[in-house]
Amino acid sequence: MKTKVLMVCLGNICRSPLAEGILKSKVDPVDVFVDSAGTAGYHVGNPPDKRSVAVAQKHGLDISNQKCRQFSKNDFKEFDLIYAMDKSNFANILSLASNKDDEKKVRLLLAEVDLGFTEVPDPYYGGTDGFENVYQMINLACEAIVKKIIE
Ligand code: 4NP
Repeated sequence: MKTKVLMVCLGNICRSPLAEGILKSKVDPVDVFVDSAGTAGYHVGNPPDKRSVAVAQKHGLDISNQKCRQFSKNDFKEFDLIYAMDKSNFANILSLASNKDDEKKVRLLLAEVDLGFTEVPDPYYGGTDGFENVYQMINLACEAIVKKIIE
């Protein structure tokens, strides 16, 4: 059965679009469906932030066609695994859960790896370095997810 994975951050324009693009690049779409969303609706309908598009492109990924959408309660029905980029996203997602089964689907992305910290920092107000940094940590977490759900 196809595993459905949702990557979630605040705006769905910086971190989770990268996480969506990176995980998609590592899986067969026949086996795994990957999407992303934001807990906030500030940028609904917009493409990812130019700096996320650029860092993805630097690593050979095209995420420019993604469109921002807001996380909703219905996503608990659609997805098997819901990954939050930071603790604030995690709490916001959990606040929409209806039951224990919903809650069990939600994890911190960096809980999949042992980096010594558990949150993907929000790069929105920082420089380009922040986006490369975020790319690297998301990439490591996605490698771990692939091992876990596919191998
Ligand atoms: P993201 O970054 O959650 O990684 O997409 C942000 C993007 C936009 C805003 C905050 C964070 N914003 O406040 O508009």
